[in-house]
Amino acid sequence: MRQRIFSGIQPSGNLHLGNYLGAIANWVAMQDEFDSIFCVVDMHAITVSQDPVALRQKTIEIAKIYLASGIDPQKSALFVQSHIPEHAELCWILNTIAKVPELEKMTQFKDKSQKNGRESAGVGLFDYPVLMAADILLYNTQTVPVGHDQVQHIELARTLGKRFNNKFGETFIIPDYFMKEESKLIMALDDPTKKMSKSAKSEYSYIALSDSEEIIRKKIKKAVTDSGSEIVYHDDKPALKNLINIYALLSHKTTAEIETMYVGKGYGAFKSDLAEVVVDFLKPLQEKMASISDEQVLEILRVGAEKVRPLARKKLEEVKEKIGFVI
Ligand code: TYM
Repeated sequence: MRQRIFSGIQPSGNLHLGNYLGAIANWVAMQDEFDSIFCVVDMHAITVSQDPVALRQKTIEIAKIYLASGIDPQKSALFVQSHIPEHAELCWILNTIAKVPELEKMTQFKDKSQKNGRESAGVGLFDYPVLMAADILLYNTQTVPVGHDQVQHIELARTLGKRFNNKFGETFIIPDYFMKEESKLIMALDDPTKKMSKSAKSEYSYIALSDSEEIIRKKIKKAVTDSGSEIVYHDDKPALKNLINIYALLSHKTTAEIETMYVGKGYGAFKSDLAEVVVDFLKPLQEKMASISDEQVLEILRVGAEKVRPLARKKLEEVKEKIGFVI
């Protein structure tokens, strides 16, 4: 039996290189070896206000990004979260064992609720990590490939899974996360102390997967660098370290090789080559995306939902039986 992986991305904001390198690239690499389920988590996206037309378009766009990146629907199940209502049902049941202080300490909730004032934070935003736990636990997931910012959420999924198992008997597999050291946290281009983020105020903080050649060059030119002029990969130079990391991951070179390539050359030469590397990576991805029709995507998502539905139903039945629901 192959081990199962599950992961997902919210159809909100602009997907960027951090999302690709931290999550999708690993999914593509893992799908041959693992029984893989990838989801577009639209129910998570609506925990902050979304324009309905944009949400529908984004949901399809994210699925196109999965496909264009190399997720193969013959190997992996690809579906939309809201197509499987068992996610919401299991979330409700897990809500009854999750504790308010556990959710209050979630960094994402604290960040997002502080932005617009805690008074206006929705209950959905508060409950977001419990829905995420339901996503993971519903499919007997063993490994969740994600970026570093999701670790706290996966810890909660582990806690809730264990708590349920202790109370009602062995039901859930307790999941682990998977991330790669060099890609688990891609930093913002305009501030190497912050992660590259979809919800960043300035466009210059991230490279969107949909950015044009011109914009990519502009953004990399403007990216902050540290003092000095040598191209060295070191913790003392966090901005440069981040750029070298992106270069290395997209060109499949080591950071040491990149250092050697730029001995005696300055930031200018390095940045202009990095822009080329990013353009060479994103152009084919964008062309592939443009070649996939909405209808093709909708069919793939429908088939994906049909693949995972029996798994979700079976697990939820087991849960309902364990907690004493009449079924
Ligand atoms: P989301 O949509 O914010 O991000 C999608 C994935 O991208 C990763 N990521 C990054 N990785 C490296 N560097 C960065 N700067 C960076 N920014 C984002 C995230 O870690 C994530 O893997 N809660 C999840 C969605 C979700 C989910 C799930 C994930 C819902 N249910 C079940 C796994 C399993 C989220 O908001 O991801």
